[in-house]
Formats: sequence, structure tokens, C-alpha cells
Amino acid sequence: MCGIVAYNGQKQAAPILLEGLEKLEYRGYDSAGLAVRDGEGDIEVVRAKGRLKVLAEKTNEGKSLKGDCGIGHTRWATHGEPSENNAHPHESLHAEVVAVHNGIIENYQEIRSKLERHQYTFYSQTDTEIAVNLIEYYRHKYDETPIGALRRAMMRIRGSYALAVLFKDRPGEIYLARKDSPMIIGVTEGESFAASDAPAILKHTRHVYYIDNMELACLSKGGVTFYNIDGEQIEKEITEITWDAEAAEKGGYEHFMMKEIFEQPKAVEDTLHSVCDGQEIDLKDIHLDEEEIRSIAHITIVACGSAYHVGVAAQYVIEDLSRIPVRVELASEFRYRNPILGENELVIVISQSGETADSLAALREAKRQGVKTLGIVNVVGSSIAREADNVFYTLAGPEIAVATTKAYSAQLMAVYCLAVRFAYVRGKINKEEYKKYIDELSALPEKISKSLEDKERLQWFAAKFGNNRDIFYIGRGMDYATCLEGSLKMKEISYLHSEAYAAGELKHGTISLVEKGTLVIGVSTQNELYEKTLSNMIEVKSRGGYLVGITSYGHYSIEDTVDFTIYIPRTDSHFTTLLTVPSLQLLGYYMSVNKGLNPDKPRNLAKSVTVE
Ligand code: M6R
Repeated sequence: MCGIVAYNGQKQAAPILLEGLEKLEYRGYDSAGLAVRDGEGDIEVVRAKGRLKVLAEKTNEGKSLKGDCGIGHTRWATHGEPSENNAHPHESLHAEVVAVHNGIIENYQEIRSKLERHQYTFYSQTDTEIAVNLIEYYRHKYDETPIGALRRAMMRIRGSYALAVLFKDRPGEIYLARKDSPMIIGVTEGESFAASDAPAILKHTRHVYYIDNMELACLSKGGVTFYNIDGEQIEKEITEITWDAEAAEKGGYEHFMMKEIFEQPKAVEDTLHSVCDGQEIDLKDIHLDEEEIRSIAHITIVACGSAYHVGVAAQYVIEDLSRIPVRVELASEFRYRNPILGENELVIVISQSGETADSLAALREAKRQGVKTLGIVNVVGSSIAREADNVFYTLAGPEIAVATTKAYSAQLMAVYCLAVRFAYVRGKINKEEYKKYIDELSALPEKISKSLEDKERLQWFAAKFGNNRDIFYIGRGMDYATCLEGSLKMKEISYLHSEAYAAGELKHGTISLVEKGTLVIGVSTQNELYEKTLSNMIEVKSRGGYLVGITSYGHYSIEDTVDFTIYIPRTDSHFTTLLTVPSLQLLGYYMSVNKGLNPDKPRNLAKSVTVE
């Protein structure tokens, strides 16, 4: 949800900022802007509506903006339509403060009214312009330093923000403030950087600081000073990023999404190996020793979007294997319904970014109620990773495409590991079964590769059926969890209307939408449910639906019913989601590309949703 970048060094800032923004464009792409200054000169601001390339053209790839200190922004609109006027950076009324912002200011109307009473006027519809003017107002009113004015603004503002601010009277300095929106700071010889995400600065430095909530910083050339909300200077530890910058490049693929689909075997294998040596699953590093595991009375899983779908699959797998009751909740609903969390409850928050506002709020609610929390998180050092009692890191590496693929699969592997370990420690499976499940988990990466081999057939299918108006996904049990994710993938990147239904539920209403040619994808990988799902597919077929069947090798009788079959390798029925979803990801990808869309940057979406 918006990307910000800052550079303060010896080189020309604008090209570096544009390059950084390119790596952050997945966070928002409806407008972009730069503010650069040359020594003590004026702060020059350029903004453009549309993709980053429009800004690059407008500034001659950054060459027309002179200066070695600057800030940049790529926007995902919250307040105000996508337009040049609403694009960042925003300037205060007297042009003394210029800032870029990622986040949302909830009480901006109230602050706007206050500023209007002091003769402030506004040119945009954004909450950011309000923040910029509030900072200027406090500087004047209390004759404050930049840190002092920012602190006052932070205490007045409700909401979330990562702010990078230039002050007209402070050349060679960039000020930063953070609450609930991600920001990373990098320092190297004579240069300093800040960004919403590591790929934007990784080319320049791997040595980074994580700025915490309600903290501030001042970037000088090659240095950074941190402050707490009381304005006191604080020390922070520097961390080294270990993953490769190349991991965040397309590496020959046309889109990040395709690259990430094909990185799934590795993401899943790395995640498994982080807790399993092939013989044992060891969760001690995440403080789930045997005593802890035995004491769990109930599990609540909270997450959003695809991570929620992992939760739905996890509910089936953990309950069935370990017999621990599991409930799964949408994070956006969780905290507003006064959830009841019991004694010996474990709350698991699943999030790729670790910054999703609703998931973070759910985590905080669980902590407020004194319940033990576990984050399953991909981004190291993210808010959820830092605030959860324990973290199970998925090792998917940086995920750039807005639609999640490899992080989703790595999350699935993480919950499978929990389920198998919980089942064994609680005596629900014996040593032999435990070993059998571990062997099956170890075989999954190879089997994902196998299921991806069907890509040409899926490409052909997408070309032939890409113009369908609606798509329905039906399945039972674990296959229903698969359908939820397959359907989301389809709608978010191809803009086709799609819905996922528990197969047995279709006849309670939705089947009235099925007519001649309606595309219905039936997922049937569970041996014990195979016949039942097939009957539901036959119901669809007899109403004229065009049927795609997805099942495991061996279930060849499906071909008597369906028009097009996708086979996945055989595995234990608890783990089939991990083999089925990659085919559905490919289907969504090809439908999108076939329509001439860019699957990496679907309209209206951003990679991490840091607003409620
Ligand atoms: O970063 P998170 O895992 O917390 O993100 C949750 C959802 O926003 C995310 O999964 C979203 O649904 C994706 N667009 C799915 O592809």
C-alpha cells in the first residue's frame, strides 16, 4: 500500500530513487513522484499520474532533477482519486515541509478542520497533505526542531504511517517517522537509504536497521540517528540481509508471478528443512516444545486473503491429525466481535508481509487478552514477526507479484509441519505414521515440480476459455480450501467473476446460476469424498455446465464426467492442497496474460494492505 524511498548521499538522487521505486511498484502504481534538492537549493517536486514510467519520462529518467538528497513515492490511492494533484510528495502551505507517506491518517478530517481555523488551505484530497501541514504548523507554533514538530504530529495523528520528510531549512537531512507501516533503513559509506521494503535498497547495501513503531530517525550522508517518541536519542542494532538481490529480479521470466510459481518447490523445501531434518520435526526454536504442545487446548488462526485460505486448509489438517479444535477467522472481523479466547489457547497469525493491518490488529487483540501467539511470517523483521511471542518464518524469499503464490505454499508447508508434530506429540499418530508423514512432506517439493509440468495444457485451456463470464470452483473438505485460493487467484489477476463453493452447498442456491457453458472447476482429490464430489459435478453437468476436473492420478473415472481433466501427483490426502493450487495459479496466470493484463500488478490491489 504505497512505496516510499529516500536517498541521502554523494550521487544524483533522482535516478537512484526511480530505481528504488521500480522495486516497490508492486505496492501501488496509480501515481508516483519525487522531491529532490541540490545542497541548500530549493526542494524540487515532480509528480505524475499513472505508472512509474510516466514519471521517469517526465524527468528524463531522473536526469532533469539535480540533487543528492531526495524522497520518492509510488501510490496506491486511499484518500482521493489517482491524479497528479493527489500524487506524493506533498508540500506544506509555505513550502517548508515536503513529505511522502505510506499508511492512512484516520483523523485527518479533524486535523484538517483545525488547520483551516489557522488559515491553512489544501490543494489535494489526501490525508498526507494534512500531515505535512500539521508538521509545519507545529514547527511554527512551538518554534520546534524537525524532530520536535514530528513528535507532536505523531502524538496528534491517529492511524498508520511511514513518513519521509524534507525540511526546507535542513539541507542534507531526511527525517523519518513510523507507526504500523513498514520501513527499513540502510547505511553505507557516505550514503543512507530508507524504503518500504528491502529490494529497493538491496543493490546499495545489505546492512539495515528496522525502525520500530513510534520511533523517528534522521538520515545524514552515511549516518542515521534514531529517536524515541520522547525525543531522546536511542541506539539500534544493525542487521545484515542474507538473501540475494537476484531473488527479487525476474530472472528471465516474463512476470514475477510466473517466476514465483516456479520457485514453489524451493520455497516449500526450504521451509520444511528449517524445522525438519528428514527424521524429526523440531519446533523448539519457535518455543513449541513437547510440554507446550501438550498444553494447547484450542487453536485460533487469523489471517487475510490467501493467508486466510491457508488457515482454512490448516483447520482441516490440524484438527484431523492432532484432534486439537481449530477455528479460523478473517482478521478483519476478529477484533470487532469481541472474540473469546480461552486458557491454553494458541493464536496463530499467518501473513506473508507481516504488515497486514487487520492481521496485526488481531495479533494485538490476542496479546491484549494474554494469549500465546505464533506468527507464520515471510518477511523478516516485519511488525507481526516482531510482535508475536514466537515466529515460524516461511523461507519463500522476497515475493514481488501482488498475487501470492510461493509464500502461500510455504505457509501451507509450515502448517503441515505443525499438524504432524502436534499429532505425534499428543499421541494421535505412532512413530511409524509420524515417519510416514515426514517422508510424504519431504516428497512434496518434487511433486509440485511435477504438477507444474502440465503448464502447456493449462495455457491452451486459458486461450480457449478465457472469455467465460463466470467461473465456479467446487470441492469438499480440503478441496474446498483449495477452491477458495484457486478462485481468489483467478479473480484478482484476470478480473473474471469467480466463486468458490463447498460442493455440497451449490444446490442450496448457487446452482441456479449454472447454464449452458458455465465454467465449473471441480476439485476432487480426497479418496473418501471422491464419489460425493463427483455427484455434485454431475449435477452441474446435467445443467449444461462445462466441467474441469482436478484429481490425483489414479482417479481416471473422472473422465467419464468432465470435459477437461487436470491430474496431480498422488499424496496423502491431508496435503493435496499444496499440489492442486499451483495448477490453479497457472490457470489464473494464463487467463490474465491471455486478456492482455499484467498479472504482477492487478488493478486496485497492493501487495501488503497496511490500512484497515
Ligand atoms: O501479507 P499477507 O499475507 O498478510 O497478505 C494477506 C492478503 O492481503 C494477501 O494474501 C492477498 O489476499 C493477496 N492478494 C492474495 O494473492
